[in-house]
Amino acid sequence: MASNPLNAAAAAELFPVIRRHTWLNHAAISPWPEPVSKAMRDFVADNASQGPLGYGRWLQVEQRLRERAPGLFAQEHPDDIALLPNTSAGLNRVARGLDWREGDSVVFMADDFPSNRLPWQGLGRLGVQPRPVSLDAHDPERSLIAAMGPSTRLLAVSSVHYETGLRLDLTRLGEACSRHGVLFCIDAIQHLGALPLDVDQVQADFVVGGSHKWLLAPEGLAVFWSRPEARALLEVVEPGWRMFADPFNFARADWTAPASARRFEPGTLNTAAIHGLEASISLLLEHGLDQIGSALLDRTDLLTEALESVPGIWLTSPVERERRAGIVSLVIDGMDSDRALAQLTLNGIHAAIRGRCLRLSPHFYTPIEQLEATIEVIRKLAK
Ligand SMILES: Cc1ncc(COP(=O)(O)O)c(C=O)c1O
Repeated sequence: MASNPLNAAAAAELFPVIRRHTWLNHAAISPWPEPVSKAMRDFVADNASQGPLGYGRWLQVEQRLRERAPGLFAQEHPDDIALLPNTSAGLNRVARGLDWREGDSVVFMADDFPSNRLPWQGLGRLGVQPRPVSLDAHDPERSLIAAMGPSTRLLAVSSVHYETGLRLDLTRLGEACSRHGVLFCIDAIQHLGALPLDVDQVQADFVVGGSHKWLLAPEGLAVFWSRPEARALLEVVEPGWRMFADPFNFARADWTAPASARRFEPGTLNTAAIHGLEASISLLLEHGLDQIGSALLDRTDLLTEALESVPGIWLTSPVERERRAGIVSLVIDGMDSDRALAQLTLNGIHAAIRGRCLRLSPHFYTPIEQLEATIEVIRKLAK
């Protein structure tokens, strides 16, 4: 029986999208919950009526976001969080900032989202050896661990794969990194807001995730967590006035970049998105990341269990609960995924195509009846 953290009325109030649509595309961009749209509406009204006169209040919202964001990583220290424009920026901060030495190698997934391949591939120009790894379907972590050697400085993975939905065993990877003295960098955009993540438990060094997917906030913002000792290894390649806790002190004598993660924030931030993300993280923390994670897994369980036994449907996402997060992907025998997607859309069901697969990504609030209706539509398509 799938857990329901919200009753039907509360869900429709908080997530207006479900009144008209079945939104199974949180792995792409998510509709905003009511508290997020209210925060955004209020911000727009404030700007329209009095411009930046409310700037002091905006800074308070930013401060609250900094205080709440560590909770996504099972942490408490705002100093370890940087607010960046997107996930790609975080990965590039690491790729461009680390003191690479000629002959170093970097291990990453050959079929990862481009943002988590291109920065590592580009290091070839510094004499760093990029090592893209094709994952073994039966033991994906083993392939990554086996590719690490004495020259390896860093392992970069996406904790949840954007197409197959595969969730890696981060604890096992983190242990291997720590054994080999390798830095561990995680793209968690398909993870944060969907499932809890304890960066100490998985021994991560750098973790970044954008706001517009499972975090249910506007585009144009990402939270970047870094472990202090690992952060100290990164050169500040983009310095700027806003790196400091007191950025308006233009008369400071010492412009040395601070030790905190603010060192990665050179200039003016996306204040509109900050208002949205502050509201969405508050909502997620209030509902509990553990509860959200198990409600979401119940939903991907439901889809998986119902669809795996249908003749003519091939699941390309893992069937084991511990190997999944919010993504279920599949192929229908003899049917183009484009056609399947068009049929779903006609039924008010919004999904996506990645590779040759149809990708379904509900969230913790998705009504069970909507999932059952989706299963029925897909069953009919497979006939
Ligand atoms: C695994 C992964 N990494 C990165 C991105 C892109 O993130 P951003 O646009 O925040 O850089 C995506 C977007 O789909 C993704 O799925």
